[in-house]
Amino acid sequence: MTSTSTLLKQLLHTDSRPNPWPLYADLRAEPVSLQDDGTYVVSGYDEVSALLRDPRVSADPGYAAPGSRIGARAMAPRTAPAFLVRDNPEHDRLRGLVQRHFGPPARPGFVEGLRPMVEELIRDHIDGLVGRTEFDLVSELAFPVPVSVACHLLGIPPEDAERLGPLAEETVATPEFRVDPYDPESAATSSHAQEELTAYFVAHIQRLRENPGPDILSSMIHDDGPDGPMTLPELLSTCQLLFIGGHETTVNLITNSMLLLLRHPEQLARLQADPSLAAGVVEETLRLEPSVHLRPRIAVDDIHIGEHTIPKGASVILALAAANRDPRRFPDPDTFDITRPDTAHLSFGGGLHFCFGAPLGRMEGQIAVRELTRRLVNPRVLQDSPPYRPLPDLRGPSALRLAVDEVRPT
Ligand code: HEM
Repeated sequence: MTSTSTLLKQLLHTDSRPNPWPLYADLRAEPVSLQDDGTYVVSGYDEVSALLRDPRVSADPGYAAPGSRIGARAMAPRTAPAFLVRDNPEHDRLRGLVQRHFGPPARPGFVEGLRPMVEELIRDHIDGLVGRTEFDLVSELAFPVPVSVACHLLGIPPEDAERLGPLAEETVATPEFRVDPYDPESAATSSHAQEELTAYFVAHIQRLRENPGPDILSSMIHDDGPDGPMTLPELLSTCQLLFIGGHETTVNLITNSMLLLLRHPEQLARLQADPSLAAGVVEETLRLEPSVHLRPRIAVDDIHIGEHTIPKGASVILALAAANRDPRRFPDPDTFDITRPDTAHLSFGGGLHFCFGAPLGRMEGQIAVRELTRRLVNPRVLQDSPPYRPLPDLRGPSALRLAVDEVRPT
């Protein structure tokens, strides 16, 4: 195996944010590649898909060797590790305790029941743009809508959304693996934000203990089912996971969908002629411009994959974004086609940690795309390429300035 030492470093560097795709293509030349720091980057579709489902691949950063690129994001005091970074059996116990309140089999209609609330939120945000001919899609819709949805899920009063949204963004300012050069300022901001979020949730959980509402956090707090109620540290980490996982990703989905549609006017015209294609837009956006590019893992055993062996203890980065454009899996992988018949992307992960909120993320994305393309008259991107957040793993534009002739009233 040749050492493609510079590719991962280049990919993680902020200069690569606007266009990481040539680097992903170079990485795919060797679907499992050893980097000079000992990290294995996995970029082929079949290989990423297999490792997502392989119990010899742990999501627990506690297994990482000291000094390796993968390390736990500093955990706020008083919390327990969230199920995103737990292996079984603990993962299934914790995820099950949340799933009981969120979806099938216990509450099959729950996510669908959120549709009128999501529609109203999106309608209100577009109403707020009526009379304008220029605006930033990220700060005026793509960011505040998922924050409000996450608040609704957790019973957080809408007036607190403005304060909590930026805290969630600051929390993920440090990725779950080391990016050179180490930025002590962003690490300090991130842990300070986590502490503030934790303090908020401690008080919020106490309020819901005394005064439960119809939200899923109240149900979790008061659940005395067979697996027992969650402890306070478990509740705190679950709140943060749902709050952060539930919107940073959806912000990118809404923004990337619109960016792709505006870059491909023929696809936009097809959607406008048939709004039911909104589902295809969302899936194709997730494949081509995924919200989550990279996920960290640790090999807890020697793993033979193709012609390679990932040794026990090695840090592994699963490059979902590279896998989604693997030409061995998708014909014309770089083409944006909203009627592509095969959209089996890996953008929600796979296996044990398959995204918990995928149905909700999809719903938010579809409604946003459908309503925006219905109501914005002659939308244009004012700056292409737009500015990107520095994060390599949760990659997305920090702003997307659009010009329109008019915003139609509802
Ligand atoms: C477009 C939107 C979204 C995308 C692209 C996305 C992506 C992902 C990905 C890739 C994973 C797997 C991580 C891994 O394997 O390490 C994941 C897990 C997760 N997501 Fe999402 N997500 C989205 C929306 C949501 C929403 C709306 C929620 C909450 C309601 C949510 C909650 C979670 C949770 C709790 C996990 C951890 C699952 C587990 O470890 O079992 N996500 N998501």
